[in-house]
Amino acid sequence: MNSNSTDLVAISGAKGFVGKNLRKFLSQHNIQSIPISTTHFNNNQFPKLKKVTHFVHLAGIGSESIDQKFQNVNIETTKTVIELCKKNRIKKIIYFSGLGVSKNSRSSYFISKFNAEQLIKNSGLQYTIFRPSYIVGKDDYLTKKHIKTNFQKSSFNPWLWKIYATAYIDIRCMFVH
Ligand SMILES: NC(=O)c1ccc[n+]([C@@H]2O[C@H](COP(=O)([O-])OP(=O)(O)OC[C@H]3O[C@@H](n4cnc5c(N)ncnc54)[C@H](OP(=O)(O)O)[C@@H]3O)[C@@H](O)[C@H]2O)c1
Repeated sequence: MNSNSTDLVAISGAKGFVGKNLRKFLSQHNIQSIPISTTHFNNNQFPKLKKVTHFVHLAGIGSESIDQKFQNVNIETTKTVIELCKKNRIKKIIYFSGLGVSKNSRSSYFISKFNAEQLIKNSGLQYTIFRPSYIVGKDDYLTKKHIKTNFQKSSFNPWLWKIYATAYIDIRCMFVH
């Protein structure tokens, strides 16, 4: 994507940490985006996507609850996004997986991410799959967690997060063809 005026980006998980930052970034570069929410998935009703050129699939969960299982969210939303891309002739899907995901993964979360990757790779669509570690940036979870725990212990080390953080939320690279 080259900030082309014809580019239009659909984003699942648009209200999450990455999604909010991505939408802001795109808007600053005059690229329109269409948010796809949990409600759209739950009702199986989506906005018009005919003119969409890229689909950034961010919807996902990192831990399970009684109602939200990895299979239902991380896998099923990916299946739906692939269907939407095919139906609407969206040329490229961009997916956020996770660092360390592989065919040898043992945790349920990583396995769900691996299976979602496989669905995308076998879809026939153009794709970019990222495997980020903790992402830091405005309102990121890692910094918030460290500020909370370290301030509580009165030993906050402002450089501590750098040990963990390997990616700053700068979305430019994700659209390179
Ligand atoms: N943040 C990180 O450090 C990090 C690191 C590696 C990988 N990732 C991956 O990057 C992606 C985005 O991460 P994030 O930090 O922005 O996550 P986030 O803040 O937790 O946001 C996740 C989004 O997923 C959507 N979602 C949750 N359950 C859903 C469901 N049942 N159906 C449809 N959508 C659902 C939510 O959409 P609504 O708001 O509409 O409910 C939410 O906005 C995720 O796939 C995550 O695994 C993140």
